[in-house]
Amino acid sequence: MDEKSIYILKKLYEDEFVSGESLANELKISRMAVNKRIKSLQQMGFSVASYKKKGYQLVDRDIIRLWQVKDFISSSNLFSDFLYFPQIDSTNSYIKENQQKLVSGTVVYAERQSAGRGRLGRSWVDLEKGIKMSIFLKLGLLDIEKVVPLTLFTGLVVNRVLRRYNVHSFIKWSNDIILNNKKVCGILTELSGELEGSASIIIGMGLNVNCEKIPDEIAEIATSLKKETGSHFDRTDLLIEILKEFESEFENFKNHGFLHFRDEYKSFCINLGKEIVINGTQRAFCKDIGQNGELIVEMDGRIQKIQSGEVTIRW
Ligand code: BTN
Repeated sequence: MDEKSIYILKKLYEDEFVSGESLANELKISRMAVNKRIKSLQQMGFSVASYKKKGYQLVDRDIIRLWQVKDFISSSNLFSDFLYFPQIDSTNSYIKENQQKLVSGTVVYAERQSAGRGRLGRSWVDLEKGIKMSIFLKLGLLDIEKVVPLTLFTGLVVNRVLRRYNVHSFIKWSNDIILNNKKVCGILTELSGELEGSASIIIGMGLNVNCEKIPDEIAEIATSLKKETGSHFDRTDLLIEILKEFESEFENFKNHGFLHFRDEYKSFCINLGKEIVINGTQRAFCKDIGQNGELIVEMDGRIQKIQSGEVTIRW
């Protein structure tokens, strides 16, 4: 989206009605050019209505305020670009396919995903009014051992931000964010391309925010912030808060690894002290979280470390 379209969107967001004439004057473009941009905003899914005397109106204001996100990105030392897609197959896939031309620190955001991907080859059901984004990082000096816990770190960051909003969320190992026993956020971290001493990583997160009706197929296991708390959340603020928190703790993560966050992680981890089932078959008792975020369990009378897999809790 070009700067002028973002400016128009900003005006529409700030005022109840905006005349085409004032936009044309402010942007020093023709009415036709304004019209064209309004049309393309509509095609992108922004609900802009047009009234003969009053002008244009943004009907649904639950949007991502691109100007604000871009302001944050330009002030950031970690993030470098923000790509907004009204519709895409998957933000993680987009980065995978385009990583050659993307700079480290690019954030790819999509309003809707047609082929969102989840962990363990599953698909990620697309809910409206959520936050679906992927962070692309080229990590020169980060060793691979720290890459795995990066996904746990991201979960901790999301949980921390939600807690600040007084959301009573928890973490289910490895990085599901749980609210009232249902999943409200999932994180898919993918390593893409490994060279000696360097790695590119894609951290995709899907946070269900203001969706009111959860589709039947996932209603028993998934939820949204709005559904559980009854409150509407400002998705732009939430998105920026998550990126800010990620950035401000990322140095700590790089320098000290997951260990620096382990106590906090453990205090919100709902697996600890519970009987769990690993990959649908193996029963175990969850004893601890290791230095690198691995799950430490007692299984078949032995203490074992679990690095990955699907864990369900036996309540
Ligand atoms: C999980 O299975 O819990 C992980 C879900 C991750 C979903 C997000 S939505 C944005 C990004 N793009 C994808 O295709 N997946 C991740």
